[in-house]
Amino acid sequence: MAHIALFVGSVRRDRQGIKVARWMEEKLTTRGHTVYFIDPLELNLPLLDRMYKEMENPPSGLRDLQNKIKNADGYLAVTPEYNHSTSAAMKNTLDYFLEEYFFKPSAIVSYSAGGFGGVNAAQHLRLIFAELGAPSISSSFAISRVTEAFDDRGKLVQEQYNKRIPKFLDEFEWYIEAFKNQRLKGVPY
Ligand SMILES: Cc1cc2nc3c(=O)[nH]c(=O)nc-3n(C[C@H](O)[C@H](O)[C@H](O)COP(=O)(O)O)c2cc1C
Repeated sequence: MAHIALFVGSVRRDRQGIKVARWMEEKLTTRGHTVYFIDPLELNLPLLDRMYKEMENPPSGLRDLQNKIKNADGYLAVTPEYNHSTSAAMKNTLDYFLEEYFFKPSAIVSYSAGGFGGVNAAQHLRLIFAELGAPSISSSFAISRVTEAFDDRGKLVQEQYNKRIPKFLDEFEWYIEAFKNQRLKGVPY
């Protein structure tokens, strides 16, 4: 069983993404994983000035976040699509760290109001995770028309997503285990 950091990508007051994120959290915990739920709305991080490693006296909230990112065996990002990319909130949270992510896999869940499920955001986020040293798994998971996929209380109403998610998480777990085994043998840098 793994420790997985789950990144929420929206801080909008009407954000739909929190429903997706809580649904994913439940899927991961049901499979026995420990989830670090990373919500930029709660963190309220300023736009990046200094990275964590550049800070002399990081605030305790950021120290706690650093521990979670460092301890995680994998990263699951739940991203909205804003203007064909991921959100500023997602990018800002990720940018605070670097080495903490190295040699661990990421997986991307995207969603949008329209029919494409945020696939453009997922493609951009792949590039970001590659640069962070946490390459994304081959599959990504897209949720279209997010306002119709969940009810107002956050319950999934479109059963197709419950049917599709196990294969995606099987793949993520495979990569998590493979990377973990490989890290035990040492890392190139
Ligand atoms: C600034 C902004 C840009 C958006 N750009 C896109 C877009 O490029 N493609 C798309 O499918 N939806 C776009 N949308 C609609 C979002 O998919 C929809 O608002 C979604 O609920 C956003 O996630 P959130 O509610 O968790 O913030 C955009 C929404 C916002 C606020």
